[in-house]
Amino acid sequence: MSDILAIYPGSFDPITNGHLDLIERGRRLFDQLIVAVLTNLEKQPLFTVAERVEMLQEATRGVANVTVDTFGGLLVDYARQKNAQAILRGIRAFTDYEYELQMALMNRKLEPGLETVFLVPAESYTYVSSRLVREIYQLGGSVKGLVPPLVEARLQQKVFVK
Ligand code: PNS
Repeated sequence: MSDILAIYPGSFDPITNGHLDLIERGRRLFDQLIVAVLTNLEKQPLFTVAERVEMLQEATRGVANVTVDTFGGLLVDYARQKNAQAILRGIRAFTDYEYELQMALMNRKLEPGLETVFLVPAESYTYVSSRLVREIYQLGGSVKGLVPPLVEARLQQKVFVK
């Protein structure tokens, strides 16, 4: 059987311990995993694409078979360009399911040969999201244990810059 290349797409603004948990699970399942940061976010991000890529690279440094990249436009076009066979997405709770199902089915309509694989992160991360991390940090709360220390340090720099 040929090697399976999967893409784990997302905004990663910023990366959380939940994302890292999923990367670890995904890299054990697939031969190659590309973590792909979406460049054309609709909303104003907290971190630039370059910063998000840097954080992902730092967090996955030395981890075999994981690479970090960026993409714009349709995910299926990017997947085709990379010759990927699968899309990896995480489902934390029932509330994620509807959105994820809709995306998976739409991506299948656009590219029937591409499978979406859902993995469940560790229970301890089921309530962690980038949106809540941004909000908690900006309102002065602690995000310790929710994001890797390198992200905590970057968040502190953001506040100093303001
Ligand atoms: O982490 P997120 O923000 O929930 O990730 C969403 C993402 C990047 C996977 C999704 O918005 C996406 O794939 N965007 C690329 C544009 C695209 O292909 N849209 C159609 C999806 S059915």
